[in-house]
Amino acid sequence: MSLPLASAPKSAPIPQGVSLLEEIARLKKSLNAVILAHYYQDGEIQDLADFVGDSLQLSQAAAKTQADTIVFCGVHFMAETAKILNPNKAVLIPDLDAGCSLADRCPGDQFAAWLKQYPGHKVVSYINCSAEVKALSDVICTSSNAEKIVRSFPREQPIVFAPDRHLGAWVEKQTGRPLVKWPGFCVVHEQFTGRQLLRLKAQHPSAQIIAHPECEESVLDLADYIGSTRGLLDHVSKNPQQKAFIVATEVGILHLMQKARPDAELIPAPPSSGCNCAICPYMRLNSLEKLYVCMRDRGPSVTLAEDLRLRALKPVQRMLELSA
Ligand code: 13P
Ligand code: SF4
Repeated sequence: MSLPLASAPKSAPIPQGVSLLEEIARLKKSLNAVILAHYYQDGEIQDLADFVGDSLQLSQAAAKTQADTIVFCGVHFMAETAKILNPNKAVLIPDLDAGCSLADRCPGDQFAAWLKQYPGHKVVSYINCSAEVKALSDVICTSSNAEKIVRSFPREQPIVFAPDRHLGAWVEKQTGRPLVKWPGFCVVHEQFTGRQLLRLKAQHPSAQIIAHPECEESVLDLADYIGSTRGLLDHVSKNPQQKAFIVATEVGILHLMQKARPDAELIPAPPSSGCNCAICPYMRLNSLEKLYVCMRDRGPSVTLAEDLRLRALKPVQRMLELSA
């Protein structure tokens, strides 16, 4: 996989000598903005954000913010969810092209056609999807609440799960309930393999393997702990007796993990591409420069047709209610 490095912003150049950190702080005040960031953002962005979290925490933070402007340092579906929840706020994103392989490979029209094969099914969609797919869903879930959301339906209720087949398979295993799965996957987590993990484990026998549920089954079968990015961070923070962890997710999570556990050895699981660590090419389109420019120029921003927003809002709200 080729990794597009964060490019320079396309708009007016940044004058020489500008302190990006000072300017971002000044703009934050003048816009009455809150900066939300995902754990896969560069460390320098995580360090200046008002709130860093996983997808569920970020949508909860977006739902309750009093700020006039939300600056979303993450990928498009995350910022779009913030807009679904906040039609009257500006939602800025440093790079509008920051997509997600799961969301991009499940187009709304194809999903609608596919669903026709499953009448009588409830539709549970992973938050890593477009507003169009959300609007076709009964409830949204994230990697931290997928099991709970599926269990919220009566046992005999047939369920469609989209768009991540690996998360779906893991939830099937946890709940013992069959799910009809859209065949999507994350290009980052798909690259971890059980074989490589076993090799790494042989080099670090006392290390625990911790993995995100977007990984394939052969990886999850080897994991001592499986959870969302927040779950992985909490697991490392709350197990001080454990001194080494092999971490099977995007490497950005190591930034706060290492701060929480400076004594721990954190070993990033290598992707099959031959790189040393897994980097989400979409998340890393954002940069400090683009963050500054999007605040300075009040854009790019997320826009949504109101009828689509209202249809997508219902399943997002259902998730927030079930996760309270
Ligand atoms: P989390 O909800 O665990 O933060 O995951 C989001 C994501 O995109 C993982 O690849
Ligand atoms: Fe999407 Fe995978 Fe990147 Fe997460 S890591 S944003 S699932 S492409």
